[in-house]
Amino acid sequence: MDLKIVGGTIITAEKTFRADIGITDGKIEKIAAVLSDEAEKVIEAGGYYILPGGIDVHTHFELPFGGTVSSDDFFTGSVAAACGGTTTIIDFAVQQKDKSLKESLALWRQKAEGKAVIDYGFHLVLTEVNEEILNELPDLVESGISSFKLFMAYKNIFMVDDETLFSVLSKAREIGALVMVHAENGGIIDLLIKKFLSEGKTEPLYHALSRPPELEEEATNRAIMLAQLTGAPLYIVHLSCAGALEQVKKTRARRQSVFAETCPQYLTLSVDNYSEPASENELVTGFAGAKYVMSPPLRGKHNQTHLWQGLAEGNLQVVSSDHCSFNWKGQKELGRDNFSLIPNGVPGVETRLYLLYSEGVCKNKITLNKLVDIWATAPAKIFGLYPQKGTVAERSDADLVIFNPNKKFVLRANKLHQNVDYCPYEGWEIRGAISQVLARGKVIVKDNSFTGRCGDGEFLPRHEFEAAQILSV
Ligand code: URP
Ligand code: ZN
Ligand code: ZN
Repeated sequence: MDLKIVGGTIITAEKTFRADIGITDGKIEKIAAVLSDEAEKVIEAGGYYILPGGIDVHTHFELPFGGTVSSDDFFTGSVAAACGGTTTIIDFAVQQKDKSLKESLALWRQKAEGKAVIDYGFHLVLTEVNEEILNELPDLVESGISSFKLFMAYKNIFMVDDETLFSVLSKAREIGALVMVHAENGGIIDLLIKKFLSEGKTEPLYHALSRPPELEEEATNRAIMLAQLTGAPLYIVHLSCAGALEQVKKTRARRQSVFAETCPQYLTLSVDNYSEPASENELVTGFAGAKYVMSPPLRGKHNQTHLWQGLAEGNLQVVSSDHCSFNWKGQKELGRDNFSLIPNGVPGVETRLYLLYSEGVCKNKITLNKLVDIWATAPAKIFGLYPQKGTVAERSDADLVIFNPNKKFVLRANKLHQNVDYCPYEGWEIRGAISQVLARGKVIVKDNSFTGRCGDGEFLPRHEFEAAQILSV
């Protein structure tokens, strides 16, 4: 045996139990109340929780967007992920104009290869679809890309029309793929943006006002209806408001295969952040809110209660980060005089577990087992990685977080590893801290320092979408 972790308390999505873990060749070989086998190395974990490494199914590393490129690449982004307990990410490769899907994917694989420090997979974003493109999809599923994302917003950039969404859903149903949607009504948003700008309303707050929750609820319902018509499963990304959740809830109640994720920012921040005063080192006032410009935007505070409840009740199955980092200086500033030019996105790949534990478990919004489910197990099941990833079980990869529930610390951008000049949660007091992170049996993080190696992450081909796999999700 290569390594033994002794004395810890294992947390899975189903249960909490005291046991030792034996690891050989990167896999969990044995779990037992007391392991008497010899091991080359022993980690004492008395008083600590052992969680599965996180699976973040929504990151945007090195994404060209909004006239710039997101500031974390596959090295800095994956180091930050690891330091936050995430051992697998699924990023979004984007279809390129005049390139086949295979070529577009190859471009994203090149960005990650030799750089990512944790295992990674890809969804493919489809922006333009014709018969030829649809015919490429089965081969992609075969090669481990079993989910496709479509945007119902970002007019003239990523947005597709309803016919495109319908034809991809129909194909997905045939070939065992999962369609993911960014559900906001991009056409109406475009009208509202133009209206505010023509009235001279240019501040970050108008980003939120041009994207009201009704437009998310409407698009969520439209996507659900089109999925129902085709019989395809559907996954709603970054759901942010009570109205959209209500659509998902009633759809699941009639047993249509619909899944949805939310993100820590929607659970903990609100529309009030757009009017935040500048901090001491930010000389220009009226623009601090740009840090929170993301789509969908932050919502009224009351939505948070609904989202936590949605997680607790199982109508939301996943919490991903939607990590898409842009520096406040030089990148968010592109929209200083026009909110619609502020690159959309916030950092969060490193803080997901901390916020879920401190704001969720410690405030009795979710149980510890539910945290494990939304953080690792359900994403692994929905996106074809289970049981290799997403749980603490014999024969699974030894991707583990050794977590100290009693430590407290304060979040500061300069203590995080994300390559971005701010943290949306600056100064927040956090309960619980990561002691060590293991990826395939190797310690890659210890006491907030990265100890792994550049390029050690492997590309993960994923299974096709299996209804049977996720009956419990
Ligand atoms: O504002 C966001 N969410 N930026 C990333 C792109 C997306 O819509 O997921
Ligand atoms: Zn989106
Ligand atoms: Zn995103």
